[in-house]
Amino acid sequence: MTDADQAREQIREYAVEAALDKLDLDTKARLLSGQDMWSLPAIPEIGLKSLVMSDGPIGVRGVRWTADDPSIALPSPTGLAAAWDPELARRAGRLLAQEARRKGVHVLLAPTVNLHRSPLGGRHFECYSEDPYLTGAVGSGYVNGVQDGGVGTTVKHFVGNDAETERFTVDSVIAPRPLREVYLAPFEAIVANAHPWGIMTAYNRVNGTTMTEHQYLVNEVLRAEWGFDGYNVSDWMAARSTTGDILGGLDVAMPGPQTVYGPALAEAVRAGEVPESAVDTAVRNVLRLAARVGALEGAPAVVEEAPAPIDGQALARELAARGFVLVRNEAVADGSAALPLDAAAGGTVALLGAAARDARVLGGGSAVVFPERIVSPLDGLTSALRDRSGASLTYTIGADPSEELTPADKGFELRAVCRDASGAVVGEGTLPSGQVQWIGDDLPAGASYETMASIEVTGTFLPRENGEHAFGTRGLGAFTLAVGGETVWEGVQEMGNEADPFEAFFGAPSERARVTLTEGEPVEVSLTFQVPDVTALPLKAIMFSLLHLGPQREADELIAEAVEAARAADTAIVVVATTERVESEGFDRKDLALPGRQDDLVRAVAAVNPHTVVVVNAGSPVELPWRDEVAAVLLTWFPGQEGGAALADVLLGDTEPGGRLPTTWPARFADAPVTEVVPTEGRLEYGEGLFIGYRAYEARSIRPAFPFGHGLGYTDWAYESLEATAETVRVRLTNTGARPGREVVQVYLAPVDDGVERPASWLAAFAGVEAGPGESVETEIALPARAFEIWDEEARGWQRIGGTYEVRASHSHGDTRLTATLDLA
Ligand code: BGC
Repeated sequence: MTDADQAREQIREYAVEAALDKLDLDTKARLLSGQDMWSLPAIPEIGLKSLVMSDGPIGVRGVRWTADDPSIALPSPTGLAAAWDPELARRAGRLLAQEARRKGVHVLLAPTVNLHRSPLGGRHFECYSEDPYLTGAVGSGYVNGVQDGGVGTTVKHFVGNDAETERFTVDSVIAPRPLREVYLAPFEAIVANAHPWGIMTAYNRVNGTTMTEHQYLVNEVLRAEWGFDGYNVSDWMAARSTTGDILGGLDVAMPGPQTVYGPALAEAVRAGEVPESAVDTAVRNVLRLAARVGALEGAPAVVEEAPAPIDGQALARELAARGFVLVRNEAVADGSAALPLDAAAGGTVALLGAAARDARVLGGGSAVVFPERIVSPLDGLTSALRDRSGASLTYTIGADPSEELTPADKGFELRAVCRDASGAVVGEGTLPSGQVQWIGDDLPAGASYETMASIEVTGTFLPRENGEHAFGTRGLGAFTLAVGGETVWEGVQEMGNEADPFEAFFGAPSERARVTLTEGEPVEVSLTFQVPDVTALPLKAIMFSLLHLGPQREADELIAEAVEAARAADTAIVVVATTERVESEGFDRKDLALPGRQDDLVRAVAAVNPHTVVVVNAGSPVELPWRDEVAAVLLTWFPGQEGGAALADVLLGDTEPGGRLPTTWPARFADAPVTEVVPTEGRLEYGEGLFIGYRAYEARSIRPAFPFGHGLGYTDWAYESLEATAETVRVRLTNTGARPGREVVQVYLAPVDDGVERPASWLAAFAGVEAGPGESVETEIALPARAFEIWDEEARGWQRIGGTYEVRASHSHGDTRLTATLDLA
């Protein structure tokens, strides 16, 4: 911080104290409680604006959950981490700050820095890595970037929220060393390196205590030990105890308007259960946030002028390609590598796979944003081949993994009509899809929770195909479904066993009727929902969906068609993907298999076309049992809105695939270090201790499909020299290929016979280098002191472990290029 920055920080602190002095107990308690789904109340008397928060992390959804309010959609966090480039993450953060400012958002509810403990974790795609150091480095870049734009961040979910099953109550049982060395480590690094203005405490418990009430981890570790001075907000609906939460260091209970704070908190102070000073501490943290983001009069915002504009589409495209990981690239008939494709050669490309046309650009749950446009692989390749090469493109579905109904979308034109008990219309609005997601006051003009008795989703559907179309519902309550003017289903959906309050959001779709329709002949559709009485609920919301699934063709027939297309083509590109029902917040995965018949499709195509390139569109690891049978495999994660354009850039060789794996890809699910995420009697034991990710594969001598850090670019690198001290590592390398490229030099430490219980090796540092063909570069990489430390449980402190270490300069965890020996005193 410069002197000028420090002086401004001081002025902000004065403004905060002055504002705090003017507030009475009731107003203070009110400020700590959400006024609605996304904001805190304004307090005009002290010049405080309403602070607005929004998800995060790949875009800024804003306060409305609808495609009517679009946001840029960047690649999934796994893709961002795969770039191994904190500076790039910082640029992503700056773009998101720009989006937040545009939408009047002061605080982004991101980044998610829980770890890839098990590949089953439903929010795996939303977290960065299995490695705490890489997670901390990328997370620091991201936080710095968002805050460079004057917008706050909320590092989440503090801590131990590494899976979704029973997430509201699960007790993550984590021993002190893994807690410190693995799960807390990214949070600690981000607090130290990026000074985040906020943190979100998780739903779960850690070692018996609910995280929103965790005095030790919040007050002692996060605040006293690490010096965190931002605000602490509960995950949505996580705050459950007035006294427990305020004494546990929770500043803000979200969402509102009814929370355990507000009047209940003022009451607890009056009853002598809570000292008023605890309320003051929380208010101070909130006012400090307001001062930083420019929402408190008299306090200079950290960033007063909006930074220079950033081209969102261009950055989204660059980020996507930088995160794509080329895990396999074999030579094909002419002796050259399968990728990049020879754009000048002409010929035919057969593009296959449902996700090539209907791209999966983001993962499900609160990470969902609505981009203004989506470039699918089909869109991206069609225009690139047209503009940049003589090749022709054919497209065939091949296999469709979405066997489940999804919100009515393509071909539907829908609106919502709200009626009162007498049937009179009280409100109306257009709907971008069949999904109704109205939260708080975000209702169609005229409608209110008090007057609405029913909501009809109604309009027309123009079928894209002949045959049996399935219609269905998601949500809880009474429905009537009509197609073509006829009632095809009427019934009530009760709450299932899994009482997740977001059931209507994440719950399984239900098929209700099948109707035979003709391509191009429009038909009327209507789904009427009886509105339950939500007026007494702490959070008023209406969520339900009209679902649809087009005619399903015989899987064998689809594969046979794809095989014909592949046989006739010079190159086959198969896009395989997970679905919304596989990767989402709200539930965990059951296995790592690609859904539907996609594995069969790849095998059948590879059998007839030796130049088969498989593009994997998944946010987390999936099994690739055919990986040795195809010429190339490119992992694209959830690539964000510009994914298809970036894919064309990479396939045609305009851009190098820049990614390295941020997480190990197992050959088969059974090899994953942690294969169970279902708690036993409410407890989830982190029994593997320090051994997650590559640390576990190494300890158990299991060879993964692709190791941590692996990724091929379009050039080769010769590592020439390595010098190591306890502080720095100096590596010299040469680009020996024919193209410019970027290499991620990964530094691992491996202790030699030290008798201390710890992994055989770990990532200590890394750096990206760039060089043209034939050029050499030298990089000096700082080794953080923490890389040599372990947490001493008895002394409750960090202990430096001296002795002999092998220092490795590596292309990946499985590909060490040079080693040096270091004796640490
Ligand atoms: C998620 C948070 C998110 C919040 C608000 C919760 O269900 O766990 O990550 O920020 O909802 O959407």
